[in-house]
Amino acid sequence: MSSSRRGFYRWLRIAVIVGAAALACFVVQRQLSAENGPFSDIPDYGSAVFTPAHRSIGEAVEDFFDYRAQPTQPIQFPHKIHIANGLQCVICHAGVNQGPDARIPSVKFCMTCHRVIAKDKPEIKKLTAYFDQGQDVPWQRVYGFNLESHVLFNHAPHIRAGVQCAQCHGDLSKQITAVRSVNLTMGFCVECHQQHAAPTDCVTCHY
Ligand code: HEC
Ligand code: HEC
Ligand code: HEC
Ligand code: HEC
Ligand code: HEC
Repeated sequence: MSSSRRGFYRWLRIAVIVGAAALACFVVQRQLSAENGPFSDIPDYGSAVFTPAHRSIGEAVEDFFDYRAQPTQPIQFPHKIHIANGLQCVICHAGVNQGPDARIPSVKFCMTCHRVIAKDKPEIKKLTAYFDQGQDVPWQRVYGFNLESHVLFNHAPHIRAGVQCAQCHGDLSKQITAVRSVNLTMGFCVECHQQHAAPTDCVTCHY
């Protein structure tokens, strides 16, 4: 073989290796985005109490790239103070026994106490400002599924069956605003359903 011919083959070999590596990257990338697509974690903002708006371009970009930061709530609502004061979850999340949505209380409900309690504190002044403008607090969603997974979740049968809130949401008496402390994956749901002889056919949870 002439040396130029050998040189050509060497370049060809390098080109094939580089090409194969690029292809591998592409395939892995596709695989990852199929499992965890750019929209796979954008939550379902079905409930009117939650706002779908991103506060900043940065937040929208993070969302696009599937980075689920802990949401920043407009008011530092302290779960632990209210729970320590003896307020039950169901007082505020009244839907939990009734249907699919646990619900978030309206600003009017908060003001039944905060017209008087701690009214000079900065966070309560923010709350009062929303109330005065006739607006609800634009709480950001913490839990929830992306629309494409078509998950059907209903609180009521779980509460009836005695499943504790903490099993799916962690210990709120230690949290300020709610933190996504439990990852509610399909495996998590199905494992408990198997243990409690609850239904596990696909249509139980997907519509
Ligand atoms: C049943 C009465 C009650 C209701 C209803 C209530 N709170 Fe409170 N809240 C309290 C009490 C009591 C405290 C503790 C006040 C203190 O320590 O001075 C408190 C404290 C707070 C604080 C901390 C204030 C600070 O900086 O010290 C915030 C913020 C707050 N509540 C927001 C809310 C919001 C938002 C709602 C509605 C979702 C709400 N609260 C509903 C009774 C209530
Ligand atoms: C078996 C797991 C499970 C249990 C138990 C559970 N939750 Fe949930 N919760 C979820 C899931 C899943 C979502 C998201 C639902 C969705 O996006 O459709 C959710 C959403 C919520 C929300 C957001 C508002 C809404 O309705 O989407 C609140 C508030 C809430 N849960 C409170 C509670 C409280 C309070 C309890 C206990 C009385 C409780 N949860 C028990 C799984 C659970
Ligand atoms: C005084 C009213 C109040 C009480 C009592 C209360 N919460 Fe909340 N909860 C709220 C408010 C307001 C929010 C929205 C801010 C946030 O995400 O923390 C919220 C948010 C949540 C969320 C996140 C919802 C989502 O997906 O965006 C969960 C889960 C939750 N609460 C569970 C509980 C549990 C469990 C208890 C009882 C141990 C409880 N809460 C008691 C007012 C309350
Ligand atoms: C800690 C245990 C546990 C976890 C976790 C759990 N479930 Fe359940 N689930 C139950 C029990 C128990 C029942 C009640 C079955 C009954 O009523 O006989 C139930 C019932 C249901 C039902 C109603 C079924 C029917 O037709 O009666 C749906 C839908 C459901 N779960 C969806 C989910 C989804 C989605 C998740 C995950 C986000 C989940 N569950 C996580 C224990 C659990
Ligand atoms: C007990 C509830 C439950 C049952 C039963 C269940 N799933 Fe799921 N599944 C879920 C939840 C919850 C998610 C969403 C997880 C998330 O978004 O992180 C999910 C996600 C999925 C996804 C991914 C969807 C996406 O786009 O992200 C597929 C596919 C899927 N399930 C198929 C099935 C099939 C097929 C069956 C029956 C063999 C089944 N599931 C049974 C709860 C369940």
